[in-house]
Amino acid sequence: MLNTNKKIAIITPGGDAPGINTCIRAVVNCAIDSGFEVVGVMNGYQGLIDEIPVRRLDAEVVKNIIHSGGTMLKSSRCTQIKTPAGLSKAVKTLKKNKITHLIVIGGNGSIIGAEKISKSGISVICIPVSIDNDIFGTDETVGFDTAINTAVGAIDKIRDVAISFDCVFIIEVMGRHHGFLAVEVGLATDAEFILVPEIKQDINKICDKLKEYQKKKKTSAIIVFAEGCGDVKKLAKQISDNTGIKIRTDTIGYIQRGGHPSARSRNLASRFGSFAIDLISKGYKNRVIVLHKSEIKSLSIQKVISEKKEVDIETLKLAEKFAGY
Ligand code: F6P
Repeated sequence: MLNTNKKIAIITPGGDAPGINTCIRAVVNCAIDSGFEVVGVMNGYQGLIDEIPVRRLDAEVVKNIIHSGGTMLKSSRCTQIKTPAGLSKAVKTLKKNKITHLIVIGGNGSIIGAEKISKSGISVICIPVSIDNDIFGTDETVGFDTAINTAVGAIDKIRDVAISFDCVFIIEVMGRHHGFLAVEVGLATDAEFILVPEIKQDINKICDKLKEYQKKKKTSAIIVFAEGCGDVKKLAKQISDNTGIKIRTDTIGYIQRGGHPSARSRNLASRFGSFAIDLISKGYKNRVIVLHKSEIKSLSIQKVISEKKEVDIETLKLAEKFAGY
């Protein structure tokens, strides 16, 4: 039976990540089971501001998307949602469509937008999805595991070239503000160095180590460089000038955001999606779903946006310990 008190809208703003479609599917199927009506907002927050008609979602529409990358609702980067005029247009569109509950599937920027919308009285539930894994309170975001595997697959191939040609590569992975992806990828690929924006780089230390490696006849190396550390080519030149070693660079880029979600990303997406509907059924409002020590829970949006997630120094130290053998 249709529960007419609750009309749910799903929105997928910001950078996409593998597992969004899996998450949409879980939300829609669980919502329908609970008797809620569900619609999809197209193009993220921009779609609300531009009053793009919402799309009715049912089991038929979300059939066969569990394995697909991208977002069937499309996305956009939207700065207007941060302005009073943009926010008011977005809320107007939600109210016009009689939306009582908004499920925001996205990263930090999307959660900030959700917090603003929650002040209008519309209840908001956020599902953390991002390849950056930089959302406070959750051990893992949907899409992170897939992105790690994509980057690891690429670096393994580059490692073959580095070994064959006895050369040093600096490889840029995504992570505009944080190095969570770089750390996991670096450990998994036995990177000789992992550079993250959270920690100041000591170029002299890298140069000294590379020179030491050369003496030990260890002539190939991989430096994993998080995008937020700056200009990869500039760093390559600095190291080259200092050591006399030719440094090659490569950027893995947007392939980290696309592709089929891994089983782990899919299953996390399904669990989070189902939990979102549980929260709504129980009357919870303005929460972010998180995975904490293998348990799925929720935190207030306020808590998540006011705290900062720290990069795992222990993992960095472990990677450093293995490097150089
Ligand atoms: O989704 C997060 C992210 O992958 C960042 O690591 C990266 O800096 C950013 O997206 C780039 O995305 P865009 O070019 O869409 O702004």
